[in-house]
Amino acid sequence: MSMNRTVRLVKRPAPGLVSSVSFEIRDEPVAEPGDGEFRMRAEYVSLDPAMRGWVNEGKSYVPPVALGDVMRAFSAGTVEASNHPEFRVGDKVVGLFGVQTHAISDGRGVQRVDTDIAPLQSWIGGLGMPGLTAYFGLLRVGEAKAGDTVVVSAASGAVGSLVGQIAKLKGCRAVGIAGGPEKCRALIEVDGFDAAVDYKAGDLGAQLDKACPDGIDVDFENVGGEILDTILPRMNTFGRIAVCGLISAYTATSVPPGPVNLRYVLTQRLKMQGLIVFDFARDNAVALADLGAWVKEGKLKLREDVREGGVDAFVETLNLLYTGGNFGKLSLKV
Ligand SMILES: NC(=O)c1ccc[n+]([C@@H]2O[C@H](COP(=O)([O-])OP(=O)(O)OC[C@H]3O[C@@H](n4cnc5c(N)ncnc54)[C@H](OP(=O)(O)O)[C@@H]3O)[C@@H](O)[C@H]2O)c1
Repeated sequence: MSMNRTVRLVKRPAPGLVSSVSFEIRDEPVAEPGDGEFRMRAEYVSLDPAMRGWVNEGKSYVPPVALGDVMRAFSAGTVEASNHPEFRVGDKVVGLFGVQTHAISDGRGVQRVDTDIAPLQSWIGGLGMPGLTAYFGLLRVGEAKAGDTVVVSAASGAVGSLVGQIAKLKGCRAVGIAGGPEKCRALIEVDGFDAAVDYKAGDLGAQLDKACPDGIDVDFENVGGEILDTILPRMNTFGRIAVCGLISAYTATSVPPGPVNLRYVLTQRLKMQGLIVFDFARDNAVALADLGAWVKEGKLKLREDVREGGVDAFVETLNLLYTGGNFGKLSLKV
């Protein structure tokens, strides 16, 4: 009998990185799809910073993963059995199938994807949730327009790399903040950013002043903490801050300091708005038409960091996101 290898949440983690005591890896019999259902075989499981929040109790934009449930995750794979009128065996699909090798689905929230446009793993990356986040966050929330200076933190990652590239396509000056010389070099040489700032090299403020001689019009904030605080005084009047993520706080073991420079929101009349990509879902087709065309034309490069080890490697691979160990969209080949 073929088996489904699953990763289930069994214990809420203490603050900090996740550890294997919170998860149980089990082999379970592969289920047969019922009427109106299909079964997919996962090929790539997406690892996303938000996962650290999904396993915590408390108010958020989605309910926490329940104890005993398969860990929530996007994954991409192939339909291998179907009683669903719209999904055929062999279809390539992406959805919230969880950290497991096989999943049963009724098709809700599942997208069939075209691997002629880009390989399957890109549909959980640049043509998936991170790509949509960059697109809507920059253009709808950040309201970036030609001539703006756009700063993005966690710039070499899944979302950040695309924010900079889309900013360039829209005629903006793109400045990325990343950790270390290798990532910073790639921002300029591969992604085409105008400038890169290494937050690990010290004096972030002076580096930003040099990289943004005309100030900052749009901050695409992925990190928060000291990075946000250093950006705030450098924002231009009527600038926009799209708060996409606060990754510096996700694994904090003490209460992170609030932004001390919040007064610039007042004095510079800034607009600061949180964004959750799912709020824009009704326009996903519009965004995907642009993103897909840019990928096909070679105008958008997708940096992917695909790791081996299957679902067993979930915990150690996820933690790479909070320590800067990934370089591009992180996923597990399963
Ligand atoms: N709101 C939404 O709907 C939505 C959707 C998707 C993603 N997001 C958010 O977008 C952000 C980026 O996500 P992603 O999937 O693209 O991840 P990613 O950028 O591919 O990977 C995370 C990166 O964050 C950086 N980082 C981690 N801890 C840091 C710290 N303490 N200080 C500075 N940088 C740190 C690391 O890069 P360095 O090596 O440069 O430090 C790491 O490689 C996250 O905050 C995530 O929560 C939000």
